[in-house]
Amino acid sequence: MDRYVVINGPNLNLLGEREPEVYGTLTLVELTEETRKFAENMDCELRFLQSNHEGELIDFLHEQRKWASGVIINPGALTHYSYSLRDAIAAVNLPAVEVHLSNILEREAFRARSVVQDVCGKRYIGMGLRGYLRAIEHLKGLKTATLVEACAAEGGIEESVRILHDRHPKYTWVGVYLVEGDELHLSSFVGSPTPHERIAIGEGICGAAAAQAESIIVADVAADPRYLACSIETKSEIVVPIFWGEMVIGEIDIDSDLSNAFHEDDKAMLETCAKSLGLALGTAG
Ligand code: SME
Repeated sequence: MDRYVVINGPNLNLLGEREPEVYGTLTLVELTEETRKFAENMDCELRFLQSNHEGELIDFLHEQRKWASGVIINPGALTHYSYSLRDAIAAVNLPAVEVHLSNILEREAFRARSVVQDVCGKRYIGMGLRGYLRAIEHLKGLKTATLVEACAAEGGIEESVRILHDRHPKYTWVGVYLVEGDELHLSSFVGSPTPHERIAIGEGICGAAAAQAESIIVADVAADPRYLACSIETKSEIVVPIFWGEMVIGEIDIDSDLSNAFHEDDKAMLETCAKSLGLALGTAG
């Protein structure tokens, strides 16, 4: 189980009534509930704190540092001047994500500067609640990439596919295809059997990604004429090539029953996984 703390700083207790045109109408209780529900579906446990007191935020970080494997923090206005909060984030030495409901870059000049940015590996701004959800996915993905790396190094392609599938509920079907001549051959998968066990390079989304030697995200498969259907439930797809040097030697193909399921974060995480798999496959082959 992945465990993260979600920390909200000063004034966020007034969400819903404080300047709703800037921060939206969602209350902190609702935001917390939505975030918790999302995390439960991702098999993540969360601990929350909102405080208007800098020291309480710091104490909480210290207290939770052994329990948590990641930090999601919206420091409110402390973002712009709290060096002690910044130092606390650095001190606990956990992957951290900075979240802001509004787009702080397009507001007053003082909000454009963040003193916590350099100790947070990632930030989501101006996305409201979605920023918190993406932060969970990001932290989850960091660990997935580490697990896949360890697994691929042992030659575990099948196990790597299983890790990707099992850790990310929106990844409904996960497979690895390997290039054989001018075709892609399905090597390993988790999900329903597919009629497309062999795909010519250049055909389908898979063949296109291999031909172009770059990742492809399709938000709505029904709207993409290249798409080769595998399941009628599939709504979106991502294909990430596996390289050995400059050469495409395979790819990770993932289908989701959710539309628009894949984002830049998924792409970055899967490209890291593809790198590990490429190294393992290339060295073995
Ligand atoms: N949808 C893929 C075919 C493979 S199945 O999704 C497993 C494509 O268009 O290439």
